[in-house]
Amino acid sequence: MKKTVLTIAALTLLATTAQARTWDEIKQSGTIKIATEGAFPPFNILEGKKLTGFEVELAENLAKELGLKVQWVTQPFDNLLIGLQQNRYDFVIASHGITPQRAKAVDFSNPHYCTGGAIVAKPGGPLTAADLAGKSVAVQVGTTYLENVRKVSGVGDVKTFPKDTDAQAALMAGRVDAWVGDKFTGLDLVKAQKGKVKAGALLFNERIAMAVKKGNSSLLKELNSALDKSLNNGSYAKISSKYFGEDVRCRN
Ligand code: ARG
Repeated sequence: MKKTVLTIAALTLLATTAQARTWDEIKQSGTIKIATEGAFPPFNILEGKKLTGFEVELAENLAKELGLKVQWVTQPFDNLLIGLQQNRYDFVIASHGITPQRAKAVDFSNPHYCTGGAIVAKPGGPLTAADLAGKSVAVQVGTTYLENVRKVSGVGDVKTFPKDTDAQAALMAGRVDAWVGDKFTGLDLVKAQKGKVKAGALLFNERIAMAVKKGNSSLLKELNSALDKSLNNGSYAKISSKYFGEDVRCRN
């Protein structure tokens, strides 16, 4: 028993102290391993066996810029940054908002888009922060939506779901009064549900970035320069307009 405990502790130590692949090692291998969730439309979605979405296309554009092939890994959202710390892939692109807490655990790239957390509810339901008093809200677990909804004064029951699409389904099924999630996802939901739900207020703004293992500065530098190129050569604008009909880059 004691031995097992020791072994697990040693493994954890190994996993966290082992080095992430440096830029030189990645370049030499010719393939970059990228992780995402694959359940967060329109950013990253697994459609059958094919990963698509704004972030998937953007990451593939960056890899092309860097002269690398891509190997995708999908993981539940809540596991993504843990796997990064265990060196299971080189970087994560999964709509992570830059927060002080996450920045303690991983290093963030420059933001690849700017967005916010918004409320969606059925007609007559809560559409502002004040309206959320005493109301139940569905959010995806481990997200900035959860963190921010909890701060709304007087908010009722906050229900968490493993996937954002499950949280949306709870709203549609009438199991909660509101959903809080990404504002672009919210707009898509309103459109898809044709008037059955309405877009409400923005609760907070956030800058979304890719994450590398803490200290992997060589990879971070290359990712940032590939992102710069994409932002400046029209590639980013093209991918963004395909998914959003507008350019979602951060303006400040
Ligand atoms: N932007 C939110 C956050 O930073 C939600 C991200 C959810 N991403 C996903 N792939 N489900 O937590």
